Amino acid sequence: SNSEFEETYRKCSELMKTLPKGKAWRTEHVVQYQGFWLNPTVALKGVLLVQDHFKARATDIILSAFMKCGTTWLRSLMFATANRYRFDLSTHPLLKTGPHDCFPMLDSYIYQGDSITHLELLPSPRLFASHMALDLFPKSVLASGCKFVYICRDPKDVLISKWHFMNKLRVKELAPLTLPEAYELFCQGVSEFGPFWDHVLGYWKASLESPDKILFLKYEDMKREPSVHLKRLAEFMGQPFSMEEEKKGLVEEILKLCSFENLSNLEVNKAGIQHFSDQLVIENRHFFRKGQIGDWENHLTEEMKNRIDRITKQKLKGSGLTL
Ligand code: A3P
Repeated sequence: SNSEFEETYRKCSELMKTLPKGKAWRTEHVVQYQGFWLNPTVALKGVLLVQDHFKARATDIILSAFMKCGTTWLRSLMFATANRYRFDLSTHPLLKTGPHDCFPMLDSYIYQGDSITHLELLPSPRLFASHMALDLFPKSVLASGCKFVYICRDPKDVLISKWHFMNKLRVKELAPLTLPEAYELFCQGVSEFGPFWDHVLGYWKASLESPDKILFLKYEDMKREPSVHLKRLAEFMGQPFSMEEEKKGLVEEILKLCSFENLSNLEVNKAGIQHFSDQLVIENRHFFRKGQIGDWENHLTEEMKNRIDRITKQKLKGSGLTL
């Protein structure tokens, strides 16, 4: 029944009234909760439900990323890799259902209380995706021994990708967000699930402490050497490719199945829609734009580029991470 979630819903409405507000990209405003900016009606509720009710298992693998860093790509790669004994590549579910139907986005799936009950019924090993910062997960999740796959990306490309994406989803009553506005908000860290740099650093530091539990990937590395990183991913997931599989060319076949060119041209990704929650329904085609490194060059001035690079350098200073 829903009653066990009522306390969380009550807490959510209380918080919504008191949390600091900032300007949002898709809707009117985001609220700042435990250091991160969240959409008050979807993400905040999702985060609170995860904090209060999600029971992680040691066998769970959670794909996590800031928005627009490569969730769609990694989701399809993880699903195809984990289920490679079950499905034939020529009749693969990815060809019909699209990446976002393969496994649930934890923070929006859990959004309706009843869905948490459904999560309990999923067989192990479970795969989830999430945009939550690591610090927003309750301690019990890492303590369960579950794993995280994290992907990050050049913040300049993240900004441009997110600006395009959010304008497509932006509520009709609001004027489009201009690039200078989005740029300013991004630099200030005010952006759904942001600040970007805090999001990245949380997972980066944890990956240094527990490399067997948190795999830290970069979109650019994946683009440049996809097979190297897909093999790392499979190994991390506990399902390394065998010599025989490699000889058969399975790594390349999975990469081809999940490539931008292949996925973006499928009927399901051209015309299908994804129902994340009652308040968040997204056309699949919006998840595929260019899929390239460095599109920021077509949008940012030299001055904008220099400032964001300076922020990145300063925020990541001493962490050993470069972006
Ligand atoms: P661009 O807007 O720069 O093209 P997310 O999946 O996390 O929402 O991120 C979306 C970004 O990943 C978009 O970037 C999108 O085009 C790109 N993308 C989607 N599918 C991809 C794939 N299979 N391979 C590479 N990039 C992909």
